[in-house]
Amino acid sequence: MDLMNSNLSVAIVYGSVTGNTKELAHVIYRIFCSKAVKVSIFSIEEFSVSDLCHFDALAIGTYTWGKGDIPKEMLPIYRGFESIRRKDMATAVFGTGDTCYPMFCGAVDQFRDMLYVHTNLAATLKVELRPQKEDLQRCEKFVEALLGRVNKDSYVRVK
Ligand SMILES: Cc1cc2nc3c(=O)[nH]c(=O)nc-3n(C[C@H](O)[C@H](O)[C@H](O)COP(=O)(O)O)c2cc1C
Repeated sequence: MDLMNSNLSVAIVYGSVTGNTKELAHVIYRIFCSKAVKVSIFSIEEFSVSDLCHFDALAIGTYTWGKGDIPKEMLPIYRGFESIRRKDMATAVFGTGDTCYPMFCGAVDQFRDMLYVHTNLAATLKVELRPQKEDLQRCEKFVEALLGRVNKDSYVRVK
């Protein structure tokens, strides 16, 4: 057990309609658990935006809608982050999308740009539709980047 991580409180909050982002969120959740981190996972419907500041680190998961748009159920949390300035809060954003669309995972890009300004953004991760075995290593890297960022600086775009 990594005692260094045991006092951290991490939340994963995701929006998903057809299950791809939910599945990715759970892959990421299991990786956090394997690192003895105290992690909670919420669908966006279960999460109260007023709880944003109760966590040391947040990983936001979103699919993309319309023409590279943030899904409407993710807008309250987006605006919640916009209304704070917490450079001490480590964040990361992941999502699933479809490369058939011109703005692949456009919602991830929008969250990335906003979280970079308002929080301590550590990493982004984009996955094509349903996560595959090959994505596991990228998810590991994403988790490491977020944990490594708590109280530190450095940004990772997981390729
Ligand atoms: C109407 C519609 C619009 C979409 N627009 C985009 C888009 O602009 N960019 C993108 O990468 N994916 C787009 N997608 C694909 C979804 O983001 C993708 O299927 C995603 O994995 C769904 O996530 P979920 O299974 O968690 O709901 C769109 C899908 C639909 C049905």
